[in-house]
Amino acid sequence: MQITLKNFTKSFDGNVVIDRMNLEIRDGEMLALLGPSGCGKSTTLLAISGIHRVNGGQILFGDRDVSNLPSQKRNVGVVFQNYALYPHMNAYENIAFPLQVRGQSKTEIEKAVGQIAALTHIEPYMSRRPGQLSGGQQQRVALARALVRRPDVLLLDEPLANLDAKLRLEMRSEIRRIQQETGITAILVTHDQVEAMSMSDRIAIMDQGEIMQISTPDDMYRNPVNRFIAGFMGNPPIVMVDGRVEGTAFETTSGFRLPLPGRLGGLKHGRPISIGIRPEHFGSTGAHTVAGTISFVEPQGRESHFDVRVGEGVVLRSIQPSRRDVAVGQPVEWPIDIESTLVFDEQGKTL
Ligand SMILES: Nc1ncnc2c1ncn2[C@@H]1O[C@H](COP(=O)(O)OP(=O)(O)OP(=O)(O)O)[C@@H](O)[C@H]1O
Ligand SMILES: [Mg+2]
Repeated sequence: MQITLKNFTKSFDGNVVIDRMNLEIRDGEMLALLGPSGCGKSTTLLAISGIHRVNGGQILFGDRDVSNLPSQKRNVGVVFQNYALYPHMNAYENIAFPLQVRGQSKTEIEKAVGQIAALTHIEPYMSRRPGQLSGGQQQRVALARALVRRPDVLLLDEPLANLDAKLRLEMRSEIRRIQQETGITAILVTHDQVEAMSMSDRIAIMDQGEIMQISTPDDMYRNPVNRFIAGFMGNPPIVMVDGRVEGTAFETTSGFRLPLPGRLGGLKHGRPISIGIRPEHFGSTGAHTVAGTISFVEPQGRESHFDVRVGEGVVLRSIQPSRRDVAVGQPVEWPIDIESTLVFDEQGKTL
């Protein structure tokens, strides 16, 4: 089911939170709504689900305008961070509940619940109450309850936020598998860029009620339209260095200098710019080298993170396979992949 937001506007007590947002979610895709706390992700999701009324614009499911339809008539499945399972009902009863409300027969319900329990891998726990289930199992039950009515749209608001690190990893791929197996159109709200990148077909990145960029995870990582997005995508994050154009190079006030990427010929001399260097682009390959002193080493098992002080007030970060030949205080001269660096203008727009 394709979902379209046309000039969607939402305000609370006259305070505009979302101002004329346009967004299209393709049939069968998982779209991640990614952005910092308070940017309007949940507000957007709640409007799509019908829990919030819109103050302007339209929400379309396919070519049907659902803007004024109550939640029950939109056929959406919603999963929130806090599961919201009924504590006095066991898993089976929780999942069956939406079908009972609809007045379906016992046989129909048994069949539908059985199918969805198999899909979400919760068959062994059906007679347990939420209090007797782990966080991950509860989240599977919540997912099963959202899916059992065969909704046209699945809306997920930070569904993994309450899970510990290991379970979060497991549920990430589980939710993606279930979404792909059912082919359901889904929106995932998250402020975790790793979650957004690993689970979705496309990411819409939001800031202060506005969508700044929509793209595939890969493209958004490589070609962010501005500094905010470049900084949001990637962990450990990109390192930003402020300076100005010096001929065909970049230079900081302290004299740290790098050539500019070849694609950026003819930037005005003296123009203030920033350079963004991702940790994987320093220390591995590149014709240009940068000399500095190791200031920090963080072993991560397979790889290590290194901080290298390369000039007054300039510390570059590097990710490399773990190596024992470098320690804090040691001078190094490492290659940098200049063509992969990102350059931003004074307003933070990518050049
Ligand atoms: N019911 C409400 N009444 C008044 N203001 C609200 C209401 N719901 C949300 N807001 C405001 O709207 C803005 C967006 O909130 P929203 O919950 O959509 O953010 P979010 O992106 O989901 O953030 P988080 O990642 O923290 O969940 C915030 O400034 C919030 O204070
Ligand atoms: Mg929220």
